Amino acid sequence: MLKYIERKQTDSTKWDGLESMFGEKDLLSLWVADMDFQVCDCVIEKLKEYLEFGVLGYYKEPEGYKQSFINWEKTYHNYELNKEWIRYSPGVVPAINWFIQILTERNDSVIVLTPVYYPFLDAVKNNGRKLIESDLINEHGSYTINFKDFEDKIIENNVKLFILCSPHNPVGRVWKRDELQSLINICKKHNVKVISDEIHQDIVIGKNKHIPTAAVSDYDSIVTLTAGTKTFNLAACKNSFVIIPNTEILKAFDNFVQCIRIPSGNTFGYIAVQSAYEKGREWLKEILKQIQENYLYIKETFNKELPLVEISPLEGTYLTWINLGSYIEGEDVERFIKEKCKLALDFGEWFGGERFNNYVRMNIATSKENVAKAVNQIIHEIQMMKNK
Ligand SMILES: Cc1ncc(COP(=O)(O)O)c(C=O)c1O
Repeated sequence: MLKYIERKQTDSTKWDGLESMFGEKDLLSLWVADMDFQVCDCVIEKLKEYLEFGVLGYYKEPEGYKQSFINWEKTYHNYELNKEWIRYSPGVVPAINWFIQILTERNDSVIVLTPVYYPFLDAVKNNGRKLIESDLINEHGSYTINFKDFEDKIIENNVKLFILCSPHNPVGRVWKRDELQSLINICKKHNVKVISDEIHQDIVIGKNKHIPTAAVSDYDSIVTLTAGTKTFNLAACKNSFVIIPNTEILKAFDNFVQCIRIPSGNTFGYIAVQSAYEKGREWLKEILKQIQENYLYIKETFNKELPLVEISPLEGTYLTWINLGSYIEGEDVERFIKEKCKLALDFGEWFGGERFNNYVRMNIATSKENVAKAVNQIIHEIQMMKNK
């Protein structure tokens, strides 16, 4: 049974960081991507055991830690990993920033598929690289890749690095094998290195299937970043996996972490992540069921009450991409959502600029009650506006 936890006044970014992010405290929070559910029992038991032992001294990586991840990848993603390829980082976003420094030079061009998770955009800009955006093609809320635009922009800008989000935050796509192959073929042809952020790899809905990018081709200049963070709600553990099959990139990475002296992670992270990979599968199934149910509720309720609200199909992630543009002017969406609906959502503009300002992203890894409240607040406020 999933256990919903009231998280206000627990120093949670999502619930207690509202004022700094949205300028208001009193909002229903469905933004930052973590879950309002207690982690699986196996994680709590193992962490308790460690705390009861009572010595928090230096601690090496546990013997079975990497093997638990290798087994998970093999069992659920049919991906054969070599232990030698696996490294640690304290988060996927830090690793993206590291790899921008490792794989590119100042002013080099880096390409992304927009709209995309905004720390990708910040990482490129903050590291003094040139951001190249290739917009996904949007047909009534269903997104595909514009391969011609992607390749043209790589050639025009002499792009050195591609940062892929797979599954894609915020549009909820789980990329198909042929889509990944086409992307990688283009990258290989133009010698573009690839970072594949697969942190949402296990949050896949229905019959959709996540395919590891590195498994679709023999191109080995692909670095994969993933973690138990989204799968098991372990963001606090700051523990991610970096997978580097290419020996030169691996050497460059090892040199880099040697210089910043972050060669390994914290003990709580190792223990939590290993136990979740070993025993968390049933808990994950419950989560996926809840996400699917919440998504169907959103889809059906909007279809019935406000059919012009466009909800993108949710193939993966627990983030729903919603287009309010038929009812509200893009420039008014932010004010409407905060001031009228009293909601904290991620605003479309964050994911690539003003051209996405009709959209909001709603995190639905929460109770059905919270989702229903948010949806009904939006419907109510739009209907009030229409009736004026
Ligand atoms: C695509 C994607 N990558 C990375 C992250 C965050 O990763 P981390 O907390 O490991 O830095 C998120 C969190 O929302 C995400 O959606």
